[in-house]
Amino acid sequence: MDKLLDGKKLANELNLKLKQELLLLEKKTTIQPKLATILVGEDPASKIYVNIKHKTCTEVGIDSKMVSLRKDISIAELHKEIEKLNADKSVHGILLQLPLPNHLKDYTNQFLQEIETKKDVDGFNYINRGKLFDYDEELAPCTPKGIITLLERNNIEIKGKDITIINRSNLVGKPLIFMFLKRNATISVCHTSTKDINRYIKQADILIIAVGHPNFITKEKIKEGVVIIDVGTNRVNGKICGDVDFEGVFDICGKITPVPGGVGPMTVASLLQNTMSAYKTQLGIN
Ligand SMILES: NC(=O)c1ccc[n+]([C@@H]2O[C@H](COP(=O)([O-])OP(=O)(O)OC[C@H]3O[C@@H](n4cnc5c(N)ncnc54)[C@H](OP(=O)(O)O)[C@@H]3O)[C@@H](O)[C@H]2O)c1
Repeated sequence: MDKLLDGKKLANELNLKLKQELLLLEKKTTIQPKLATILVGEDPASKIYVNIKHKTCTEVGIDSKMVSLRKDISIAELHKEIEKLNADKSVHGILLQLPLPNHLKDYTNQFLQEIETKKDVDGFNYINRGKLFDYDEELAPCTPKGIITLLERNNIEIKGKDITIINRSNLVGKPLIFMFLKRNATISVCHTSTKDINRYIKQADILIIAVGHPNFITKEKIKEGVVIIDVGTNRVNGKICGDVDFEGVFDICGKITPVPGGVGPMTVASLLQNTMSAYKTQLGIN
């Protein structure tokens, strides 16, 4: 089973280490790190994600404040909630759970930009995005950060490798471009307008797939020994699966993340790491 890139196991290790660090810090300060998560409405998937984040924070010793807002909250009201959290000195990290309800969707970026840069633990603020351009990953977006950590902690060589990323979203693909460039990889980024996408899939030493289509990657498409990071999260017949035909590719690939238990837990662990980093910066702790 050592083909498996076990995100759950690594995330548990990272979270435990964080917990131990926080226990040591309790001797130096009575101020606990605090993450505020804003959830607008009742989207069932978002509720599950927010609850997982809340539970993991609490287990580790990060204070988790859940700000649950009505589905029909106005634009002005949501602005005000973000302002309040920005001004609250006891809050070190702010996360706005996406997607927002339809009437707010067009303003998503505006809301994200309002979160104070130093509290922007999702890394979506223009300053934090710009830092990535400069290879500064202090508050890098959580899913890409989790992917890089998973590769590095499993000693997977990135330098000089051909990496194909099928996704160009702000959440996954775009940040990864800079993070892989920093590590001297050669990157191809594919999307719905890519001509002959199979060529890029076949050439990949490391394949990052995040399209949200089950069985998008099958064994005929991949190169033997490829490392596959399956970011996709799909629900089929009530079960969660990724974008890869896991059983089909297993014998051919070099390494692969399971879904669930791969990128998901690493995303949450990275959120906690970012919250810790934001907390330390705000308290001037090295
Ligand atoms: N496990 C986690 O922690 C985690 C975190 C984030 C996201 N996810 C999952 O990752 C997936 C993507 O999320 P997202 O927010 O990045 O979604 P998104 O914004 O919809 O992006 C999807 C990307 O896939 C590309 N794509 C879709 N169909 C394609 C096709 N047939 N051929 C080539 N490219 C195609 C799109 O291309 P265009 O740009 O041309 O439209 C786009 O770049 C979802 O399943 C999501 O649930 C998981």
